[in-house]
Amino acid sequence: MEQYAISGGNPLVGEVEIGGAKNAALPILAASLMTDETVLIENMPDVRDTNILLGAMEGIGAHVERIDRHTVKMNAALVHDLYMDGDSLRKIRASYYFLGALLGRFKKATVVLPGGCDIGCRAIDQHIKGFKALGASVQISHGMITASAERLVGSHIYLDIASVGATINILMAAALAEGRTILENAAKEPHVVDLANFLNSMGADIKGAGTDVIRIRGVEKLHRTEYTIIPDQIEAGTFLFAAAATRGDVTVKNVIPKHLESISAKLVEIGCQVWESDDAVRVAASGELGHTYVKTLAYPGFPTDMQPQIVVMLGLSGGTSIVTESIFENRFRYVEELIRMGANIKVEGNTAIIDGVSRYTGASINAPDLRAGAALVIAALAAEGSSVVDDIRYIERGYEDFHLKLQKLGAKIEKVQSERELRKFALKTG
Ligand code: EPZ
Repeated sequence: MEQYAISGGNPLVGEVEIGGAKNAALPILAASLMTDETVLIENMPDVRDTNILLGAMEGIGAHVERIDRHTVKMNAALVHDLYMDGDSLRKIRASYYFLGALLGRFKKATVVLPGGCDIGCRAIDQHIKGFKALGASVQISHGMITASAERLVGSHIYLDIASVGATINILMAAALAEGRTILENAAKEPHVVDLANFLNSMGADIKGAGTDVIRIRGVEKLHRTEYTIIPDQIEAGTFLFAAAATRGDVTVKNVIPKHLESISAKLVEIGCQVWESDDAVRVAASGELGHTYVKTLAYPGFPTDMQPQIVVMLGLSGGTSIVTESIFENRFRYVEELIRMGANIKVEGNTAIIDGVSRYTGASINAPDLRAGAALVIAALAAEGSSVVDDIRYIERGYEDFHLKLQKLGAKIEKVQSERELRKFALKTG
């Protein structure tokens, strides 16, 4: 089993190139099935989740050609199967995007019910409500969900929760429905906007993405396009917090600084220096950092996908910080591991009360999910001594070359596969 071996205590210093946003890439891949013409996508992150979706698309007859590591050409003219099952697909949340995409184009789809990171109950009632409002019938049986319709007809839909997944699924189905859909209380995340821009580049008529009311005028057909995915706001934020936690100096390049505002604001608030340019953000930290209060919120609030990383950073800052998770009900499971590294954190319900300590100490730890896994790597990089991080398959779902990018910033981290490799790493790093 692959693990990260880490020898901590070095500040991260240097520049890191940020890849395409995983959470934009996933719906964009699914939406590529909505046309029978060829689609070219650039800045596609080469991570486990995108590769699983690409494999599933080939499985139903789409032609996928990798032009280079981050450019994919696809043609879904010969899609012959509207039934999508499979072990790997079952494990990822984004499999449900095939429902909206295939329902839009073929008016029918059956997809395995989604899994994904174990961070809460993760209902899909709002997706179902949206499909039904467009005239589809939806059935769940034997772990599969089927949506089908004679015709899809535009509707006025109010989401009870501004769900990212439901907004995206409804956008896709409504793009090829008859007439006009108005989606209220829509999610405003950058990846929702990116998906809407992608669909518009294929001939869809979607207005208002990025606000909480999205208007979609259904079109008959979508056509070929070439599209570049936005940079990954969460990957960038993860490196910025890693820089602060290790008291380093890191520039994230190829980013949209506006998407990082809630993250940069917290860094400034606790005493880091932050510089922004057109497509880069630099953070430098030294000495004792201060405390703060954080509540995760939908965009443009502080992202839930950065919650574990900020907790790890605040665990090494002075004073008492309070972090409240308001999106998912089970996203503090990693705190147990952090306590084993010397953190002083108490979780009460959906709030973590963090009394900063001056150092963490290395330990053997498990990555419980994607973002918590990345956060524990940050803790290990900042810690005194050596750590081993297990279950890194979760981290690889959403971070491309995580350990290689960290190495370039001076981190002592390696991916190891055996006791022997682990011993070799220990000898090398002293
Ligand atoms: C997306 O998940 C992201 N996943 C998550 O990324 C991210 O944490 C989340 O949005 C919030 O920003 C992908 O893009 C693949 P939601 P999603 O629907 O769409 C409740 C990562 O680390 N809800 O906005 O599943 C739900 O239970 C991750 O990259 C309903 O009650 O998020 C949750 O509490 C993990 N009914 C809240 O809404 C519904 O029908 C937000 O979920 C839908 C959601």
